[in-house]
Amino acid sequence: MFGRKKSEDHQVNNAARPADGDINRDGKHPNQDVSQEAILEALSQIIDPDLHKNIVELGFVQNLRVCGGHVAFDVELTTPACPVKAQFKKACEDAVAALPGVQRVEVQMTAQTASAPTSAQAAGGPAMRPPEIRNLIPGIKNAIAIASGKGGVGKSTTAVNLALALAETGASVGLMDADIYGPSIPIMLGVPEGEQPLVETDEGGAQRIVPLERHGIKLVSIGFLTEKNNPIVWRGPMVGKMIQQFLGAVQWGDLDYLVIDLPPGTGDAQLTLVQSAPLSGAVIVTTPEAVASEDVLRAGHMFTKMATTGLSVPILGVVENMSYYETPGGERIELFGSGGGERAAREFDAPLLGTVPRVLDITRGGDAGMPIFVSHPDSPVAHTYREIALGVARRISTIAMRDKVFRLPPKNAPGVISLSS
Ligand SMILES: Nc1ncnc2c1ncn2[C@@H]1O[C@H](COP(=O)(O)OP(=O)(O)O)[C@@H](O)[C@H]1O
Ligand SMILES: [Mg+2]
Repeated sequence: MFGRKKSEDHQVNNAARPADGDINRDGKHPNQDVSQEAILEALSQIIDPDLHKNIVELGFVQNLRVCGGHVAFDVELTTPACPVKAQFKKACEDAVAALPGVQRVEVQMTAQTASAPTSAQAAGGPAMRPPEIRNLIPGIKNAIAIASGKGGVGKSTTAVNLALALAETGASVGLMDADIYGPSIPIMLGVPEGEQPLVETDEGGAQRIVPLERHGIKLVSIGFLTEKNNPIVWRGPMVGKMIQQFLGAVQWGDLDYLVIDLPPGTGDAQLTLVQSAPLSGAVIVTTPEAVASEDVLRAGHMFTKMATTGLSVPILGVVENMSYYETPGGERIELFGSGGGERAAREFDAPLLGTVPRVLDITRGGDAGMPIFVSHPDSPVAHTYREIALGVARRISTIAMRDKVFRLPPKNAPGVISLSS
């Protein structure tokens, strides 16, 4: 009777049945199975706060097993980085425990990361994308571009700590340093100078780069392909070719999230990436004062404008970096005014995912190859990165499920159990 699906017939294990006279207070045999229908009915009162549908119709409830008064099932979420995971679990336990005859409830929270429709799929075809580069990164469920209007605002710092925070939730995560103008991720993650990834030759004779691994994430930098002391002057078509080659050459394997640190600005490199990597969305990083500049708006609108050309890349949110300075005594000093991140978020109609203060441990950690998320995992800044990661995962899940949800019939359920968002 274990592992049955909702549609399968409910059968009672006769061997486990007690003698007829042995009936408990709620009129059930103590060993008689609680009905699956009653359990699913109880669980269907629980509504996903983002998708506004109940968890049974969303298909989250799986592997329901009933044995007498013991009930066990899995709740399969669309990301391991679900911000309301604990609340879901508690709501499920409470809803089923309240049913007559239930003695024990075991809820296992699992996740199967949903894939947000990529820009090409969303457009319903190749659009501007040449067919041969349509999926240069197969096996990757969601690619997230980290973009900014200009350099030095903390784009790479955000990319690194966001990737680490996503990985902490149990997701498989890769980090791709595509900033041809200033690849800095290897230093930030403590890759010793001169260390290069392995290059393997596959069956077809093609050479494939095997990503390095640091702190549980896979990592590759375009800096591995360029000579440090002999910088190439990158020009339009060359940039595009290099990035496409790079994208296609890495053997990522299966990833839930690939975080891509884009070069700053809106030049050829960024455009090529947007056109040749199937992006689930973009995160815009800015400092409070940079928001005032046109660059930030241009960087964001590079993605949203794609919508008019058939390639729509949603902006998942804005991260305001170096928002304020915190003195060792805990005093908060606004360096460049405040509210910039919120302004940008409004402009892009996207959430402000988090504000990160300027703290010395971030600068030091970046230089020492020890990101703050690893060196100070319990610091307020690390928690902010966790919130940013949950916000990103949540937006992607919502986008990924949107199609499915639209197809579900509306349901007016009285006695709805709502989880706070
Ligand atoms: N919140 C912060 N507090 C302190 N230093 C920071 C912070 N964010 C970034 N930095 C530092 O500022 C410099 C630029 O950040 P970086 O992430 O490399 O920017 P970008 O990738 O946008 O050029 C780096 O030395 C980095 O360690
Ligand atoms: Mg950088």
